[in-house]
Amino acid sequence: MRASDGFRYPLEEIKEKCDLVEVISAHVALKKSGADSFLGLCPFHNEKTPSFNVNAQRRVWKCFGCGEGGDVISFVQKIEGLSFGQAVEQLASKAGIKIERSERAVKQSTERDRILRANNIACTFFRQQLAHSEKTQQYLSQRGLSDDAQETYKLGYAPDGWDLLLNHLREQRVEDNDAVKAGLIVVRESGSGYYDRFRDRLIFPIFDTMDRIIAFGGRAFGDGQPKYLNSPETLLFAKNKTLYGLNIARKSIARDDLAIVVEGYMDVITTQCAGFDNTVATLGTALTEEHVSVLSRFTKNVALGFDSDSAGMNAALRSAPLFEMAGFRVRILAMPKGEDPDSLLRGGDSTRFAELLDNALPIPDYRIKIALSNHDLNTDEGKSSALAEAIDILAGVANAFERERLIRFLAKYHPNFGTGTTLAEDHIRNEINRRLRRSAGTHTTRINAGNAGQPGQSKPALSLAERSERLLLRIILFSDVPISKVFEGLTPNEFTGSDTRALAVALSEQDSELGRIDHEDLRTRVAGSAAEELLLDILVRSEESAAAYSVEDLKAVIVEQKNNERLARMRDLAAQVEAGAIRQGDEQYEEFMRLVRDTSGPWRR
Ligand code: UTP
Ligand code: MN
Repeated sequence: MRASDGFRYPLEEIKEKCDLVEVISAHVALKKSGADSFLGLCPFHNEKTPSFNVNAQRRVWKCFGCGEGGDVISFVQKIEGLSFGQAVEQLASKAGIKIERSERAVKQSTERDRILRANNIACTFFRQQLAHSEKTQQYLSQRGLSDDAQETYKLGYAPDGWDLLLNHLREQRVEDNDAVKAGLIVVRESGSGYYDRFRDRLIFPIFDTMDRIIAFGGRAFGDGQPKYLNSPETLLFAKNKTLYGLNIARKSIARDDLAIVVEGYMDVITTQCAGFDNTVATLGTALTEEHVSVLSRFTKNVALGFDSDSAGMNAALRSAPLFEMAGFRVRILAMPKGEDPDSLLRGGDSTRFAELLDNALPIPDYRIKIALSNHDLNTDEGKSSALAEAIDILAGVANAFERERLIRFLAKYHPNFGTGTTLAEDHIRNEINRRLRRSAGTHTTRINAGNAGQPGQSKPALSLAERSERLLLRIILFSDVPISKVFEGLTPNEFTGSDTRALAVALSEQDSELGRIDHEDLRTRVAGSAAEELLLDILVRSEESAAAYSVEDLKAVIVEQKNNERLARMRDLAAQVEAGAIRQGDEQYEEFMRLVRDTSGPWRR
């Protein structure tokens, strides 16, 4: 292959020196699956069971799920969105291979390279400044950051001046324009001249998973505002997918099959230094689907270690469903009042943190804990309002066994508890069923996602199954996945939401009548119904892609919820049969027998 300005890239040497498994491991947790082969979760599509294969000896990778594949260069190209030449140059420089380039090519070295170079120079500058800043060193030791930690995280100090970094960058022949693009200096409002973005701040360089410095965070000393100032988005830095600490954490996340997500820079550093290497944080933004997708290449288990204040609790409750949607098992650390992981661990006692981690709570337990803590449980009045709130939460738990577990837990807060647990449990169970019947008119359990933590707010939240159904419909409408593939094993009539079901049925009818999908014709088919509203909602948001989801995974979510509901219904009927409330010959008895016949496996506990 020839580069545009007439020289040869040493491709063979690059492929030899850049170990494919090592390069890919920065993005995917690979497990050995044979003498030369490795297996992981594909970073290019959403999947739950690994189908991403790497062959170390043949130096190729291939995903049997989405069909993508290639060599080390095409991997870097795809994962970082680079051109062929950019990927080659990046790999070559990493492997210390010199690429001869024409003068023109050097001048045109990519913007990415120039931003990286500026960041590296700035980092070294900040490090040097720290060595001379008594104040910063004092601050660091006060916060328990050892020399080792300062070295590992390359902490620095941005001096108190308007153009100290600016001048240094110029001395190092970094173009002003590139320093602006790196977010290091800012154009003066007058339009001419520049000034340093970071002034008199403790500096935390932000790394990508390949250990490159892509941005900086700067903490003010004392009460300066804002407390943390971050680089703006740049060609290299996208806040919605960058996780602080992942460069260090990725190996232990894969090894422990668990990621701990905390809120801040300091939380990451203190937690990792205490031996919990598998810790990362978002960077001053709420957790996004992109963050989740990055983590999901390494593990499907997450523990949220957020601050104990209400912002932290809300962040936990907002983040948890995003992880669950992506198939994660989520636990939340019940952080003691007034603490965050940093403050908890600063004393050097990691046993308390380890305990919190071991006892981290499933989402409903965490919500119930918060509900209970909002009431005075020493009074009957407090107890019963706490109970009412907790029952609302329980009514949203889809899994019947989970619900039973929580009912047993809650019974001790029931006024009848003293006179026997069964009575209390029965009362709670009846109360939940009453609410379920009232809320939906169907058995569909609802998961309170968007406004979790604020019960009683308008807009009913969608169940996971319904959200999956919407995504499936979006896939039918906007992708070229054949409709028959989507409805295979899950017929339109089995959709759980009444609007998603109606739209699915209409789509399926249209497909068999017209042999194609026609948005206009579809609208007339569902005109005036809730399904039309849903269709319009999907159509106007056509830019929102569902491509990241696999049809199979989405169907699995729906089937699981239906199974859970069936189990719950069966338990309910079984209890009534046992109590003699339903007898042979009753319609409900028939339903019960049908459910028993259709269900394999243990359902009774
Ligand atoms: P916190 O305010 O909880 O800070 O913000 P912290 O992590 O406890 O920091 P210390 O211990 O007081 O130094 C949590 C995270 O939110 C982002 C930062 O990433 C911070 O670590 N943040 C916070 C900002 O981006 N800007 C801010 O002004 C404040
Ligand atoms: Mn904090």
